[in-house]
Amino acid sequence: MAPESWRPPADAWSRRNFLRNGFGSVALLCTLASPGALRRKGEVTSAALRAQARSPFEPFQRDLPRIPELLPVSTSGGRDVYEIAIREGLADVLPGFETPIYGYEGVYPGPTIRARKGREIVVKQRNTLSFESNVHLHGGYVPASDDGHPMDVIPAGGSFDYHYPNDQDAATLWYHDHAHGRTSRTLYYGLVAMYVLEDELEEELGLPQGEYDVPIAIADHAFNKDGSFRYEENVDFGFRGDTILVNGAVSPRMAVQRRRYRLRFLNGSNARSYTLRLANGEPMTQIAGDGGLLERPVDRTSFQFHPAERIDLVLDFSKYGPGEQLVLHNTAGSGGTVAVMRFDVVGGGGREEFRVPRRLRRLEPLPPFNARRRWDLALGTSMWQINGKGFDPSRIDVRPRLGSTEEWTFVNHSQRVHPMHLHGFQFRVLERSGGPVELADRIGWKDTVGVQPDETVKVQAWFAPYAGKYVFHCHSLEHADKAMMLQMEVVE
Ligand code: C2O
Ligand code: CU
Ligand code: CU
Repeated sequence: MAPESWRPPADAWSRRNFLRNGFGSVALLCTLASPGALRRKGEVTSAALRAQARSPFEPFQRDLPRIPELLPVSTSGGRDVYEIAIREGLADVLPGFETPIYGYEGVYPGPTIRARKGREIVVKQRNTLSFESNVHLHGGYVPASDDGHPMDVIPAGGSFDYHYPNDQDAATLWYHDHAHGRTSRTLYYGLVAMYVLEDELEEELGLPQGEYDVPIAIADHAFNKDGSFRYEENVDFGFRGDTILVNGAVSPRMAVQRRRYRLRFLNGSNARSYTLRLANGEPMTQIAGDGGLLERPVDRTSFQFHPAERIDLVLDFSKYGPGEQLVLHNTAGSGGTVAVMRFDVVGGGGREEFRVPRRLRRLEPLPPFNARRRWDLALGTSMWQINGKGFDPSRIDVRPRLGSTEEWTFVNHSQRVHPMHLHGFQFRVLERSGGPVELADRIGWKDTVGVQPDETVKVQAWFAPYAGKYVFHCHSLEHADKAMMLQMEVVE
C-alpha cells in the first residue's frame, strides 16, 4: 500500500480528547470539546505564532507528560474488563499545533494498563479505523489465540476481546498494533502503549511506587510544516526521525523531588537504537529489563537501548540540591536526537520512603538445551530475511517442544542492527561475539536482543508456558514489515 494512504486523513477528526487526571490513579475519559476549542489541523493560531518565537523543537520547554492510566469498566468475577477504541485522534505534541494520530482511545502514547499478577484481565478492543488492526502484548505470556499474531487481525469496524492471564512475574510490558506489513506506520502514527504488570513480591521490596513510578516511552519522529508526523519509508535503515519524543513531547523536562524515582523506559521507536547516559556521567541503577526484575540492581553509566526493549531504572535525586538539572543524553544521536529529557530537581521530597534492596529476585535455573538453532540475518534481493526466508504465514519454520529450552544463535551478516524478538517466550542472553554480555542482560529475562552489525548473539530461550503458533522477528519495524519474521509452533 502506498505510504500516502496511511497519512491520517486530516479532515476526519471532529473531536478532541480531554484527559482528566485524578488523584493516585488517573482516569481516562473522552468528552466532546466545546465547539470553540475545535481547531483544524495546521491552522495558524496566535499560540502557534508565539511558539514560533522559540522553536518548538528546542529541548526542555515542556513538562514530561504523564501517560494516563486506563481504568477497568468492570472488576467483577475475579477479572477486570477494559475497553479501548482504536481510533484517530489529535495529539498535543508541538505547542500550537495538533498532530493527527492513530491511538488507543485516540491518545499518544496510549493509556497505560496496570495489571496484577494472578488476576486475569480482558481488553475489549474496538477497531474504528478504516483498515485492519490488532493488538500484541509485547513480553506477555499469552495464549496464541490472544497474542495478536500478525495475520490474526480485527477487521475495520470489528472488535476482539483479548484475554491476558497475567501469570508471570511483574514486568514492564507494552502493547501495540501488529497487523502484518503496516506496523511501521501504525506504531509510528501512535498505536503504542505501556502495560505495567505488578506483583506482591516486587511490592514487598519497597521500590518507588505511585507517583514515583513513571512509565516513559521514547520514540523518534519527524514533522511536516503543519505539525503532522512525517513518515518516510526506509526499508534498509528503518525510519529515523530528527526529533526525540518522550511520552509524546519533544525532549521534555521533569520536575523531581529529592528522592528516588522508578523510571520505566520503553524504546517505542521504529528503528532507532539509543545510548542513554547522564550528561554528568553519574551511574544509574537498573533494576529490571524486558522480563521484569533482575536478580540484583546494577549500576551503569551508559545503556544501549534498542527498539522494543525496556529498562527500569531507579534514579536517586536526593544527592542533588534544589535547582540542579540533570540531562539524559542519547550519545548515539546527533542534532535533535541527542537530548532525551532533563530532570529538574525541586525542593521537597521529605523523608525517603523507598529503597533498592541488594537482592531483587531469584531466577529459576533452566533445564539444559533440547536443541540448537542458528538464524542467519541478512538482506535478500529486496527484503530482509532469516535463513534466506521471509515471513510466510502458511509455513512453520521451527517446532520447539513445550517446556524445553533451546540455544538460539543469531548471526548478523549485515551492517544494520537487528533487535530480535520472540513472541510469547523469554530468554537469557548467553554470549556475544562483539564483547561481554551486559551483566543486566545475564541476570534477567529478555524478549528482545540487539544484534549488532556482523555480530553473533547466543540466547537460551524457554518455550513455556503456552503451546501454539507464534512469530519471532526483527523489531526494526521496517525490517519486520519486509519480511524479517518467521513462525514457530511450540508443540506438546
Ligand atoms: Cu513488539 Cu512482534 O512485537
Ligand atoms: Cu512481541
Ligand atoms: Cu532488522
